[in-house]
Amino acid sequence: MSEVGVSTVGAAATPADAGAGAGVGVAAGAKVGSPLLVARGLSKQFALKGGAFSRSTGTVRAVDQVDLDVFDGEVLSLVGESGCGKTTLGRSLLRLIEPDAGTVTFAGTDVLAASGERLRTLRREMQIVFQDPYASLDPRATVGDSVAEGLRAAGVPARQRARRVEDVLELVGLEPYHARRYPHQFSGGQRQRIGIARALAVKPRLLVADEPVSALDVSIQSQILNLLRDLQRRLSLTVVFIAHDLAVVEHLSDRVAVMYLGRIVELGSRDEVFGRPRHPYTAALLSAVPVADPDLAAARRRIPLIGELPSPANPPAGCRFHPRCAFAVDRCRTEIPALRVLPDAPGDVARGDVDHGHQVACHLAEGLDLAGGVGRPAGVLYP
Ligand SMILES: Nc1ncnc2c1ncn2[C@@H]1O[C@H](COP(=O)(O)OP(=O)(O)O)[C@@H](O)[C@H]1O
Ligand SMILES: [Mg+2]
Repeated sequence: MSEVGVSTVGAAATPADAGAGAGVGVAAGAKVGSPLLVARGLSKQFALKGGAFSRSTGTVRAVDQVDLDVFDGEVLSLVGESGCGKTTLGRSLLRLIEPDAGTVTFAGTDVLAASGERLRTLRREMQIVFQDPYASLDPRATVGDSVAEGLRAAGVPARQRARRVEDVLELVGLEPYHARRYPHQFSGGQRQRIGIARALAVKPRLLVADEPVSALDVSIQSQILNLLRDLQRRLSLTVVFIAHDLAVVEHLSDRVAVMYLGRIVELGSRDEVFGRPRHPYTAALLSAVPVADPDLAAARRRIPLIGELPSPANPPAGCRFHPRCAFAVDRCRTEIPALRVLPDAPGDVARGDVDHGHQVACHLAEGLDLAGGVGRPAGVLYP
């Protein structure tokens, strides 16, 4: 595996103080190569409820045996179609739902075993921004009270709380007097800023942003995405950014994990995943992303997704993607491919200082050239 750049361990100084307004951005890529959050074998299934006339019982494996490292200071995006398990994985990482199996470690602490003061500390250090800023704010509470929720729980005295609320509202582009208003007095974009302020009030190290712009007007989405990227840099936050839309995550991500039916099928740096996808599912998703340049659009190859997303209650045997894959062979129908690190291929570029490797769960990855599907004209592999 190639070593890209020179590691600047120790350069990312102290945890940023949101209230200090220092505004000193941590240089992009100034990362240390240590994971802040580590998940191993993480699984969560839900009991299927049959309809009124159905006695069917069964389970949905919403998250199935996920291994994931989230490195300190990075933005890791988790993408995949609706229903593939992104929310369940994000919430399991934060222990907002209890996983059935596996482990989660945050800065060396066993998240799933923590209790008492240790769990309260974890709850502060790991925050979530929800998809729907309308549903996630209490309509009867002032914005100030909502933003101060975590501070109250942490026992911060009233005066300091009020000051912190003002600071954090300014940090997200709102005004201190907004603290006295109610959620219905704000637009969708402003409400999502409030949701972000609430998450940041307690100075977390890790933020899980679960489709934070999906419920917003397209015209507002980029403002919120830019805000998140800006805050992530200024505060040296580690962010797990969840999206169903690959286009949304391109500018924001350091690394990208692609999920399919409860599993991670590809994981690599942004440039690796976007520039040289190694899983046919990723390539198919990317080839469906609109391209502005008409020449590029005409030149690129479409990699089709065959049929519909199967029910996660009854996933296909072997590679879960095989019924929709244009390249599947017999082995794919019987043998589940493990997520494995591929040797760097020509054109693979890691972003940041540390190359964490390009992982893919596909038996055929070495033999496929999928790049033409994503905007680079290439030989026609797919007739
Ligand atoms: N509380 C729940 N009860 C039953 N099934 C659930 C529950 N939450 C999620 N699921 C199912 O788990 C799968 C993954 O859901 P989810 O994590 O919400 O996916 P995503 O966020 O990628 O859209 C889906 O099939 C969904 O229907
Ligand atoms: Mg979701």
